[in-house]
Formats: sequence, C-alpha cells, structure tokens
Amino acid sequence: MAVQADRGVPLSTLSPKFLHTNSTSHTWPFSAIAELIDNAYDPDVSAKQFWIDKTMVKGEACLSFMDNGNGLDHETMHKMLSFGYSDKIAVNGQEPIGIYGNGFKSGSMRLGKDAIVFSKSKSTSCVGMLSQTYLKEIDAQQIIVPIEHKASLQDILLYSPFNSQDELLAEINVIASVWSKEKTGTRIIIWNLRRTSSGATEFDFETDRYDIRIPSEVYETMNDPSQLPDRSTSYIPETVYSLRVRSSDLPFFFI
Ligand SMILES: Nc1ncnc2c1ncn2[C@@H]1O[C@H](COP(=O)(O)OP(=O)(O)OP(=O)(O)O)[C@@H](O)[C@H]1O
Ligand SMILES: [Mg+2]
Repeated sequence: MAVQADRGVPLSTLSPKFLHTNSTSHTWPFSAIAELIDNAYDPDVSAKQFWIDKTMVKGEACLSFMDNGNGLDHETMHKMLSFGYSDKIAVNGQEPIGIYGNGFKSGSMRLGKDAIVFSKSKSTSCVGMLSQTYLKEIDAQQIIVPIEHKASLQDILLYSPFNSQDELLAEINVIASVWSKEKTGTRIIIWNLRRTSSGATEFDFETDRYDIRIPSEVYETMNDPSQLPDRSTSYIPETVYSLRVRSSDLPFFFI
C-alpha cells in the first residue's frame, strides 16, 4: 500500500476516515459555515456577494454556498480539495483569514458527508468533488478527488446528485447568471447533510425561510461553553441559533 516518492521513501497518505476526523474540530455548526464565508471574502477570491441557501436536489435537502469572487482553475481546485496548501497573501492591505489550507475540508465535511464545487474563473470552468459516500462506495484506501477530466467526470456523474453533463453545466450557469462584472464565482453544494439523532437535519430551514437556524433540540445537547450562555438563565441570544443574526455584521450576506 505504501506509495513511493522520488527517492524511494514512502509518502505519508491520508485515509478517507480522516475527512470525518478533521471535521470534528467544528463543535459548532456555524463555525463550519464561517470557513466557507471566510474563503469567499479572502483577498485571492475577493467576492463582493455571498449567498447561502437550502436547495433541493433530486428531492434531497442540500446546502448551497455561492460567491461572485474570482473562481478557480484546475490547479487551484486541486489545492482546494487537498490538505495544507495555502498560498494566500495580502492584497491591497487586506490580510487573508485563511492560512492553514484546511478550512474548506473541515467545514464542508462537518456540514454534510459530501460536497461538490462548481467554479468559473476568467480562463475556465471546473467541477470537483470531495465525497465521503463516494470514497466508501468505491472502497477507497486514500482520499481521491475527482476533478472534471475524463475518469473524474464519470465518477462525478455516477456518485454526485448531478448525473449528466447538462446538469453540471446548469449549476455552472447559475454562477454566470449572478450579478458580477466578470461573471466569475464559485458554487458549493453539500449533500447528505448531518442529521440529529431524531433524523432531522441539524439546521432548521422552515421556521423562517430567510434564515438558517439551529433548532433548540440541537443547541441544547451541545455543551460548548464558548457558544452557549450561562445555562442558569433560560434566555438564549439569537446569535446562538440564527445564522442571519450572527452574520448581520458581515460585509456581504444574503439568503
Ligand atoms: N470560494 C472560493 N473561491 C475560490 N477559491 C477558493 C474558495 N474557497 C477556497 N478556495 C481555495 O481553496 C484553498 C483551500 O481553502 P481552505 O479553506 O481549505 O484553506 P485556506 O483558506 O487556504 O486556509 P484555512 O485552513 O486557514 O482556511 C484556498 O487557499 C483557496 O485557494
Ligand atoms: Mg479557508
């Protein structure tokens, strides 16, 4: 199983199980969402707007995140789906938030089991997939990440909810349709959303259709003291459970 690098010395490899392990750093679901917001706002991407929504794909509730930033090409998509590669630098005095090359992986895999990334940059469009379900189904021993090209495309069509090239193209066209001078941006769809022990998704999309909320059954079972106020009082501030309220100070945010 050891893969040999140039000098015959074994490469360290990454088990698919690590995707889940790595996601457990997010004890609070909103911190996972914050990773995706930070990425769009960082100076390399420099999005002016960011949309978060629930979207139904083939009858299944998914989370979608879309920005109208600079987008990705194949090489940066590969880095996005890899671990520890971050070459962000300050642009016009704006310091990047991202430094570790891990936030997308830990954040997306905390929210659901599977993620697909559609991106449109000035030069190209591309699609990549990071999917725990796929890796399990093909019995992968290492993390592989299909990115558009032939064999990859086939796997994306087979294992993502988008089963034809037309369906993939339609998602890329959503990016082009949003307001942006360059018509560039990135759209991330996460499916197999995390569920509570009662089987409901860990987010409540219904109570307020312009908000994404953490239901009380979820936050009451979480005991992250940094997130929950003093439990002796029954008052829970909205920032604990409402993404809209929590994000209201951000320079861009729409649901
Ligand atoms: N929305 C996006 N648009 C364009 N590129 C993105 C987007 N999100 C992530 N990337 C690219 O993917 C890379 C990896 O993102 P990731 O969040 O995993 O790490 P990071 O932001 O570099 O560091 P950190 O772990 O501190 O967040 C980024 O460095 C960036 O190049
Ligand atoms: Mg990041």
